[in-house]
Amino acid sequence: MNSNEIKLDRRLSLCAEFVRQGATVADIGTDHAYLPVYLIQSGKINSAIAADINEGPLKSGIETIKQYSLSDKISARLSNGLEKIRADECSDIVIAGMGGELICSIIEAAQWLKSSDKHLILQPMTRPEVLRSYLCQNGFEIMREQAVESDGRIYTVMLVCFCNTTVVLSDFSARVGKLNPAERKLDRMYLERVVASLQKKHKGLLCGGNKNIAADLADTINKINSFINGGQNDYC
Ligand SMILES: C[S@@+](CC[C@H](N)C(=O)[O-])C[C@H]1O[C@@H](n2cnc3c(N)ncnc32)[C@H](O)[C@@H]1O
Repeated sequence: MNSNEIKLDRRLSLCAEFVRQGATVADIGTDHAYLPVYLIQSGKINSAIAADINEGPLKSGIETIKQYSLSDKISARLSNGLEKIRADECSDIVIAGMGGELICSIIEAAQWLKSSDKHLILQPMTRPEVLRSYLCQNGFEIMREQAVESDGRIYTVMLVCFCNTTVVLSDFSARVGKLNPAERKLDRMYLERVVASLQKKHKGLLCGGNKNIAADLADTINKINSFINGGQNDYC
């Protein structure tokens, strides 16, 4: 490999894998702009917009773009979410490394994403269940989802498209999404960590005397456990 080729960690590599060949990409919350630089260098795409709400991260993105001599292919833009990006400028939109609720608000503010030709690649750091519920209640479908390990943490990456069908997810489906623990070990490990954190929450609810909420949560935990061990997911 040429020493001037950028290397991505596994989390961003999986995001890159979900981008379509020949896509026009908007990387929202680009920070260092590693992802668009990698996508251009690998020959997967020809142009991208690297956007960030904050000047500091955008500046570091611009430096990376210059370092790899890609200023003619990647335009850097100061933008809150997709506010400064037009629908005709991108086919694939990556929103990675942000909280699930923030990702929901960015999608909600850009109604033009409700188009079947747009692909969203989403990688929430927190509250993925809120993001999945939001997506399915607003006509989007999670077409593919996969867990990935980077630096000892396990993340989930989703490929999402507008399908104009509204689905209200159960708590169980919102927490497992389209992960497939029967086929992929990392998906299984991710869900085992979800169960461990829900068990802690369950204990806290019981200590606080919230018996009814605790019972609902116990039901979700049991469903996730049986799914991990070969059961069905209604949402799939
Ligand atoms: C933790 S970094 C993630 C960088 C990169 N996407 C990744 O996954 O490695 C989050 C970035 O999102 C930016 N950000 C936060 N809210 C944003 C918004 N509403 N619109 C655009 N960028 C935002 C922050 O300034 C920061 O640079």
